[in-house]
Amino acid sequence: MGVLDGRVALVTGGAAGIGLASALALAEAGADVVIGDLNAEAGAEARERIVGLGRQSLFIATDATDEEQVAELVARTVADLGGLDLALNNVGRGELGRTVTTTTLESWNAILGLSLTSTWLACKHEIPAMVERGGGAIVNMASSAGVSPQVTASPAYAAAKAGVVHLTRYAARQYADVGVRVNAVAPGLTLTRRVEAWFDADAIAEEVADSQFVARAALPAEVAAAVVYLCSPAAAMVTGHTLPVSGGVR
Ligand SMILES: NC(=O)c1ccc[n+]([C@@H]2O[C@H](COP(=O)([O-])OP(=O)(O)OC[C@H]3O[C@@H](n4cnc5c(N)ncnc54)[C@H](O)[C@@H]3O)[C@@H](O)[C@H]2O)c1
Repeated sequence: MGVLDGRVALVTGGAAGIGLASALALAEAGADVVIGDLNAEAGAEARERIVGLGRQSLFIATDATDEEQVAELVARTVADLGGLDLALNNVGRGELGRTVTTTTLESWNAILGLSLTSTWLACKHEIPAMVERGGGAIVNMASSAGVSPQVTASPAYAAAKAGVVHLTRYAARQYADVGVRVNAVAPGLTLTRRVEAWFDADAIAEEVADSQFVARAALPAEVAAAVVYLCSPAAAMVTGHTLPVSGGVR
């Protein structure tokens, strides 16, 4: 028996990185898992891996910044799997080398759209489906960059992730009385393909030594474990919280 047996979970950006690790961990804990992602090839592979764990799974090609597509993602989840109990709203992306004065309006809007607006859109359409079911649990993907100012994170990304932290608290307060818990995780540097493409081993070592007590990058599975906890009945009294998974931010 898994702690999430019989639950239906939705993961945006679940085809790679932390989202994929979380989708697999949710399935290992017993949930059926729907993946909404832009990447159809990786999404189909992720679906196969979840089915291989003995769970039902759908991949639905989705741009998480497009409201119609997000609404359709939730509607198909409910129609095909019977409801929605759990969600990880994981889509987001930073950018390298920007300061407040070198950020362009175009990149500001793009990063805010991907990292904050996508999170709000997902919550907007997931919450009514969870209320229909009598309650649920949402985990939003924040970042240590949204909790403490880290100069390697771009200002748009830091502001977007700080927005995710506050949106999480706001939604937690607004929907507690209908049984929907809303939390966030705030990973530090985590070894996904994107991070490995952006930073070499020396740059990663320098970054974590400067910013964390535990001087190593996190593994995607370590972030996924926090997501499973926040989705589980063990976290029944935890809402509005942002759980750092960052080896202790300095
Ligand atoms: N990796 C880190 O060090 C780190 C640290 C803190 C927070 N985060 C956050 O964790 C989340 C995942 O990061 P990651 O490193 O695993 O990323 P990743 O690039 O490895 O994977 C992101 C996934 O999201 C999908 N995606 C991108 N844009 C999308 C869109 N518009 N709609 C739907 N899907 C889309 C991609 O296809 C991919 O499958 C992000 O929100 C990121 O900001 C990452």
